Amino acid sequence: MRKVLVTGANGQLGRCIADAAHRYPELELFFATRAEFDVDDLDAVSTFFESHIFDVVINTAAYTAVDQAEEEPEKAYHTNHTAVAHLATICKEQRMVLVHFSTDYVFDGNKGMPYTETDPTHPINVYGASKQKGEEAVSASGADAYIFRTSWLYSQYGKNFYTTMLRLAKERKILSITTGERGTPTNANVLAEVSLQIIAEKTLPFDYYHLSNEGEATWFDFAEMIFQEHENNDIHLERTDHFKTKARRPVYSVLSKERIKDVGNVMLPHWKVSLKKLIADQQSAT
Ligand SMILES: NC(=O)c1ccc[n+]([C@@H]2O[C@H](COP(=O)([O-])OP(=O)(O)OC[C@H]3O[C@@H](n4cnc5c(N)ncnc54)[C@H](OP(=O)(O)O)[C@@H]3O)[C@@H](O)[C@H]2O)c1
Repeated sequence: MRKVLVTGANGQLGRCIADAAHRYPELELFFATRAEFDVDDLDAVSTFFESHIFDVVINTAAYTAVDQAEEEPEKAYHTNHTAVAHLATICKEQRMVLVHFSTDYVFDGNKGMPYTETDPTHPINVYGASKQKGEEAVSASGADAYIFRTSWLYSQYGKNFYTTMLRLAKERKILSITTGERGTPTNANVLAEVSLQIIAEKTLPFDYYHLSNEGEATWFDFAEMIFQEHENNDIHLERTDHFKTKARRPVYSVLSKERIKDVGNVMLPHWKVSLKKLIADQQSAT
């Protein structure tokens, strides 16, 4: 059985990996929350790996507050770059496979068609720039690593667009949602499942891969479908072409999944299919 450490275990992706883990009996997963394993504490991380060895480290820990990052860039860079570089160096030294996640926000959004793994990166906000440095550090470390770039992650856990819409619907009758950005909502349960499948199969070459749901949408389209599937007709959605935020965001950040579909044996459902499934699963659980 291969031993796998999952960092950031309280995050939405970490929790979705925990839910999917029982389908991969060949993997023995160990989950570490920020309180148990703070990736920012470089000395503690080094000390930890002196006495604990894993076959794979899945790094879901990240600084993910996109707007807040504009105000505290040092924190964002420390977690998303310095800590990642340190972890990658240890993975290289100890021959552990590193599975790392990055973002569509490494791109500036000007391409107007799906981004491939070889397109030049050019982030337009601090979060994207810190994640770009992180992925470059993983690559430069020489560790056996997967860098999975994903987009617009949501799930039943934590604070994300899906859970925010459901919360706001309880507080307001009208919601103004932007049509000014186009990307792909990605169900974190799908990302968790595909990541574990790839780790278990051991056949995908180490590289950068774009890994999101299929299709594309605006945040308005995403919100509309959330309320449609929840059969909530009380909420009125208004379109706005610009929603003011501290951080700029790419207007178009759809990721092309051709590489992973060509090389890997993966099924990536359309975002609408995965959203429907999440809502159906939640409704059947209550
Ligand atoms: N969310 C998105 O829309 C999105 C889009 C594209 C890519 N991604 C990437 O996908 C990955 C997973 O994101 P996610 O949505 O699951 O994020 P998330 O829900 O914000 O979870 C991140 C987790 O990392 C933990 N963390 C933060 N700093 C840490 C540290 N220094 N040491 C250890 N743990 C730390 C957080 O702890 P606390 O719970 O204590 O805060 C949180 O539990 C990240 O690499 C992210 O950059 C996310």
